[in-house]
This record gives sequence, structure tokens and C-alpha cells, in this order.
Amino acid sequence: MFRACNRSTISSSTSALRVRAFSSKVGQGVQKRAIRIASSTGYGDTIPQGTFFPETVTHSEQIPEQKSTELAIDRLTEIQEKLASAKQVQKMTRVDTVGIVGSSGAVGQEMLKCLEERDFPTKNVRLFAKRAAGTVVKTSFGDIIVEPFTLETAQECDVVLMAVSGSFSKEWSPQITGGPKGTIVIDNSSAFRYHDDIPLVIPEVNGKREAIKAPGINDEGKSGSALVANPNCTTAIGAMALWPLHQKYGLKKVMMSTYQSASGAGAEGMQELEDGLEAHFKDGSVPAPQVFAHQLPFNVIPQIDAFQENGYTKEEMKVTWEMKKIFDLPDDVKISCTAVRVPTMRAHSESIVIETHMPIDEAGARAVLEAAEGVKVVDDQDSLQYPMPLNAAGKDDVEVGRLRQSLVFGKHGLEFFVCGDQLLRGAALNAVLIAEQAVASH
Ligand SMILES: NC(=O)c1ccc[n+]([C@@H]2O[C@H](COP(=O)([O-])OP(=O)(O)OC[C@H]3O[C@@H](n4cnc5c(N)ncnc54)[C@H](OP(=O)(O)O)[C@@H]3O)[C@@H](O)[C@H]2O)c1
Repeated sequence: MFRACNRSTISSSTSALRVRAFSSKVGQGVQKRAIRIASSTGYGDTIPQGTFFPETVTHSEQIPEQKSTELAIDRLTEIQEKLASAKQVQKMTRVDTVGIVGSSGAVGQEMLKCLEERDFPTKNVRLFAKRAAGTVVKTSFGDIIVEPFTLETAQECDVVLMAVSGSFSKEWSPQITGGPKGTIVIDNSSAFRYHDDIPLVIPEVNGKREAIKAPGINDEGKSGSALVANPNCTTAIGAMALWPLHQKYGLKKVMMSTYQSASGAGAEGMQELEDGLEAHFKDGSVPAPQVFAHQLPFNVIPQIDAFQENGYTKEEMKVTWEMKKIFDLPDDVKISCTAVRVPTMRAHSESIVIETHMPIDEAGARAVLEAAEGVKVVDDQDSLQYPMPLNAAGKDDVEVGRLRQSLVFGKHGLEFFVCGDQLLRGAALNAVLIAEQAVASH
């Protein structure tokens, strides 16, 4: 008997198509095998999202293990071939040049890695920075000399990924988009996130809803915004888990407490943590902080960004403002956050409590999260598996675990813990996924 395996979906990414095979024992000598083509984007432009390969993913019939393995491997090979040809098609939609402004910073360096690892369909990459200008970076696109930023050189790119301060972006991003090449700018700062006419995008959430202009087109007939904002890293990580739950159960209230790593404050934040720890172990003292408000080593700091009139910090309010815009939430959905800096190097963690309109239970929520794009459920009490920053660092997927019915909200409440690499999911990867979407619509 054939039955669709609920953990098996096939979807495509615009450039990095990853093939995963996984299995689970469902009885003695019997295996349920499934092959999943996993993607981080969910755009499904080369193979539409949700495309179903029935002969591949409906194997839950009882067949001997060896035979089942052979079948799975055959199909895996076949699918890899299909994906290779899909990738070829996608390659033809390449652009000429992608620029990274702020390439030497914490986010900029990750952007370059994402372009390399995802084999982004561009012929050239140009790197722009300030102090690092003149240095040479070895990349899979060739050796690149880092350039000082100028408007004219940025406008020679089809896509510009901005990883600089808000004030820098505010001044230059709109000007770059007005250039002769029809350049699109994807900005990582908070400069444009709250502008009504500028899309704030997490591709898996609202990528399809928002109109983003294809690069290289100055044609009036082609609509869409040439300037796109990337969300705050804390928002993006939480949103990956909250969005699928919202779709099924409807969010009513969200309360988040964060444990944010030093790298959230950029390369200088990482350096300050490292130097402080080194100094402590060398001579027992930690130098006075320059980046953080207080000493970070051996401490936690319940303040990120400036205090606002309502007593929340700007980092905390960003979660509220951005989640509402990205999810298109009505005013009666309430979101609050307490943002705390902790002495980890990379990846942010979030403890989240939700109240939902529909009744929610742990098993149902787990199934929803397991099927969600860009989410990995890590939640096994017996083997002490739960999300942790050390495990989430360097990974595309946001890890979700510690799922439990809320003691506060009962049948309408869930509590869980999330860890995600904020330099990837909350910045570089998200920006590159947006760029892939724009290029694919070329
Ligand atoms: N860190 C995170 O987790 C994170 C997450 C989401 C969003 N963001 C946002 O992303 C942006 C970058 O953050 P970051 O953490 O990567 O900061 P960062 O590590 O301090 O890097 C800043 C970059 O900007 C460059 N830069 C500064 N002035 C410049 C100029 N006049 N011309 C060209 N380049 C210039 C720097 O170049 P030099 O060092 O060579 O001078 C450096 O490459 C910020 O808006 C931040 O809020 C950060």
C-alpha cells in the first residue's frame, strides 16, 4: 500500500539544491525511506515548490531493507541528475556582477561565503570596504581586490548587498538603485525596514508576497522595489519558527526572551569578547568595554541598542515592529521581547512563549515545524538534544526544541527554544536568498 510520507517534500532552491536522504525505523526489518530535496529558499522557480515525485516519496510500503536502500539510491541518483539540469537552467539566468559593501565585516564576510557555497549565478563579485580597501581576498570567483566604496563603482553592479551601518546605507542605497544598470540593493541595516514602500523580506515567509525588482532592468513596465530591507537578526530567527505555527494556529500573543551572541555587534563585538577572555586568563583582569555597555565576559547584559520612551530597547522594539510587518499581522496580535547579550561568540538563542487562536499541542506543533522550510527540530529529552548556539552556528537552518504545552496559556499555548546563526539566517543568507529570488525573476 502506498501512502505519502508526511516528512517528505520536494522543493527547490534557486541555486543551492541539497539532497538529503533520511530514514526511520517503523518496525522490525521494515524501513520507511524517503528522499527529500531540501532547499533553504522555498522559491521553487526551477522545480515549483511542492512538486511531488510520487514514485520517490511515497515509499512507506513494507519492503525488505536492502531492496529499499537500492531503490532509494537509484532514485537519489536520478533526482540528483534532474537537479543538476535544473541548476544548469538556473545558471543561464546569471547576472554580471554582485557587489558586497562592507565585505570585511562580520556580515559581509558571511555574504561572500554564501555566494560561494550557493554557487550564486554571477560572473563577478566586487568587494567594497573602508580600512580593508586594497587587500586581496581569495575567492571561488577569483582573487578580488577590495575597493573603497564609490557611488559609480557600486552602480556598476547588478546586485549590491549592503552590510554597513544604517547611516551609510541611508545615504547611499537609494542613490545606487537609481543607476544606469538598474542595480538592486539588499540592505542589512535598519535604515529602511520601517518604510511602507520598501519590502522587508524573509523569503520563506513573505518572499512571494513582496514585489522585488529584477536586477538589470530599467523598464518601467517591470514593477517591484529596487531596494529591499533585510530584517533584524533576532526577528528573522524567531520568525522562522513562528511563521509556520502562525499559519496553522494563528498567533495571538508572542513573548520572547533572547540570548544574543557577541557577533551580533559585528566584528568589533567579537574581538572585544575574545580580547576580554584572553586578558582574564592572562592577568586576571578584563579591559574596559568599548563596544558593549558593560563587560561581556562572565556577564549577561540586558540591554541591546538604545532605550526607547516605553522602557523597551530598540532591539526589542525591532522584533515587534518587524514581525508585524513581515507577517502582516493585525494590531490585536501582541508581541514583546526582552533582548539580552550573552558571552557566546556566534548564533542567537530565543526562548519563546506563544498564545494561539486555535488549540495547539506539542505533537501537532512538532509536525508543523518538521515540515517547515529552513527549520530543524532538535528536541529529544532522552539523548539531551535541544537547540544550542554551538550547534546552530554555521548552519542555514534555525533549530527549534524544548517544545512543551504552556503552563500559562494551557491548550492555547506553547513554549519552545530557538537557536539560529544570526550572521547567516539573520543577515547574510537571508540577503543572498532575496538576491536569488530577484535574479531568478530576471
Ligand atoms: N552582526 C550581525 O549579527 C548583524 C545581523 C543583522 C544585521 N546586521 C547589520 O549589518 C550591517 C553590518 O554589520 P556587521 O556586523 O557586519 O558590522 P561590522 O562587522 O562592523 O562591519 C562593517 C563593515 O562596513 C565597512 N565600512 C564602514 N564604513 C565604510 C565605508 N565608508 N565604505 C565602505 N565600507 C565601509 C567596514 O569596512 P572596514 O572594516 O574595512 O573599515 C566593514 O566591512 C549593520 O547595519 C548591522 O546592523 C548585523
